[in-house]
Amino acid sequence: MDWMTAKGLFFEKMSSIYDQNELRSLYKFFLQDYMDVNPYIHVYTPKKELNALQIKKFHEGLSSLNRCTPIQYLTEQAFFYDLSFKVNSSVLIPRSETEELVRLIYSKNQNRKSAELQILDLGTGSGCIAIALKSKFQNAFIVGVDISQKALDIANYNAVSHGYSIDFEQCDMCNFNSAQKFDIIVSNPPYVLELEKNLMHSNVLDFEPETALFVPDADPLKYYKAIVQSINFGNLKTRSLFLEINPKCLDQLIDLVKPLGDIEIHQDLNDKKRFIEVNIRE
Ligand SMILES: C[S@@+](CC[C@H](N)C(=O)[O-])C[C@H]1O[C@@H](n2cnc3c(N)ncnc32)[C@H](O)[C@@H]1O
Repeated sequence: MDWMTAKGLFFEKMSSIYDQNELRSLYKFFLQDYMDVNPYIHVYTPKKELNALQIKKFHEGLSSLNRCTPIQYLTEQAFFYDLSFKVNSSVLIPRSETEELVRLIYSKNQNRKSAELQILDLGTGSGCIAIALKSKFQNAFIVGVDISQKALDIANYNAVSHGYSIDFEQCDMCNFNSAQKFDIIVSNPPYVLELEKNLMHSNVLDFEPETALFVPDADPLKYYKAIVQSINFGNLKTRSLFLEINPKCLDQLIDLVKPLGDIEIHQDLNDKKRFIEVNIRE
């Protein structure tokens, strides 16, 4: 099989799942990050034959993608805030909306000396938020908390591979407390309702960790309530709070966080009200 034939086969098998634009970018990742070849090999050397190992790998990858495995789990790599992160099925694949959350936090704090910043990331997963913030505030003290030790192992790997020191702690965020006064607490907690499951693609539902995604329909604000309660009881102290939210729960969330201080709502690139910033009243 030559590289041009391989491309034809890939597009034929995958076109029932992805549209042509998605397929083009998927194929580029597939060649570059999974097959480890030039992403334009089918353009430069269309008639060159794949060797036996490449043919085996190609077919294995194609059948995984056909079962809707996200390409990031196949390559064990995702990009977030221009940084490369190791990912596997223990962690949520970092989302582009969450990059906007990092950008927002950076823009609001860029004039501060990073050595003065103490940052807590609740539900850190792959460590993407904590590590992206560390890349901007290299002298900041940053703590990442997650209930999943497997996720924290990945977060640790990611921090070390970027040469950053971040304190990762395994704890239920509902019980986490600290004597430290933070400048920023950030959280992108699980916020997808169980009833939204039927709107989701199987590449998310069947592969990404449930504990990272879902909250019970009966208690959609579970994690936000826990964070607010910890701040109210003095178990967590912070000057500001940045939350990624489910836009469907915006009104209830505003009611919940308003007593803490001044709030600002920020939209994501799709104009959805996706982030709440709270400047905590002393
Ligand atoms: C939506 S994911 C966010 C991951 C990462 N911060 C990101 O933005 O890609 C939520 C994370 O919260 C963690 N989590 C779920 N329940 C938790 C709990 N009770 N305490 C701490 N972390 C929890 C999950 O393991 C998951 O890593």
